[in-house]
Amino acid sequence: MINEKVFFAADGVDGPAIDFARKLAGKHGIPELPAGSFPGTADFLLRADVAGLELRSLREPGAGPVRVDFSADAIQRRARDALRRQNLVRAVGTGVEVLDATAGLGRDAFLLANAGNRIQLLERSPVVHALLADGLRRAAADQELAPIIERMQLHCMDFRHWDQERRFDVVYLDPMFPRPDKRARGKKEMVFLQQIAGEGEESDLLARALACARGRVVVKRPPREGRIDAQEPSFSYRGRVSRFDVYLP
Ligand SMILES: C[S@@+](CC[C@H](N)C(=O)[O-])C[C@H]1O[C@@H](n2cnc3c(N)ncnc32)[C@H](O)[C@@H]1O
Repeated sequence: MINEKVFFAADGVDGPAIDFARKLAGKHGIPELPAGSFPGTADFLLRADVAGLELRSLREPGAGPVRVDFSADAIQRRARDALRRQNLVRAVGTGVEVLDATAGLGRDAFLLANAGNRIQLLERSPVVHALLADGLRRAAADQELAPIIERMQLHCMDFRHWDQERRFDVVYLDPMFPRPDKRARGKKEMVFLQQIAGEGEESDLLARALACARGRVVVKRPPREGRIDAQEPSFSYRGRVSRFDVYLP
């Protein structure tokens, strides 16, 4: 994993949002900058204000912050798409129990929960986990989103340490793309994610996922990227931005 220097900073009067973020930063060992100080040696700033937590690159100040916002237009548009047209939902199914072993910023998991699935999310990067945990906290307070968020449960954990005894109908994998696809949505987020979380070791992910899956494993790939390992998928759903390889154990 890439060891970027990340500091936490609170901006504004303490309240529930800042308390929540400060606790997460403390739990993950992310040092807090004293108010008004400048993080000369930091690469990223995890900044909390009354509106929640966001990640800023101090090396690329023009890049703008990344935050998890499930009420944002883009994800809401996708969530409203006829479910059957979404390749993600076609590949995973509906009404099933899913393990999203590489949760990232939780967008795919949100779309799957919106389609009626129950999801356990694993994220191994403490910074990405903190952003997602904060996004889930805010969404849980929104009347419309709360029933969807109630179906999502997040853990800060590497899939390699997950209890292999537990089985899920579907295990979903979206490991870090080797290179962000130029046409991919949210390219800025993907670049940040790569810098913060690094490229994963992918070689044993599929075997682990197959060992946990009762029904199937779904792996998201860029459309022209090779498969995750030597094993051929049983079938794939191909879209303009992503391909979903389906493995039947
Ligand atoms: C491409 S992102 C996932 C994006 C996600 N599907 C979304 O919709 O936002 C990959 C994420 O998986 C995480 N990750 C990679 N390998 C992992 C592992 N073995 N266990 C847990 N998380 C992992 C990375 O830290 C990164 O945040």
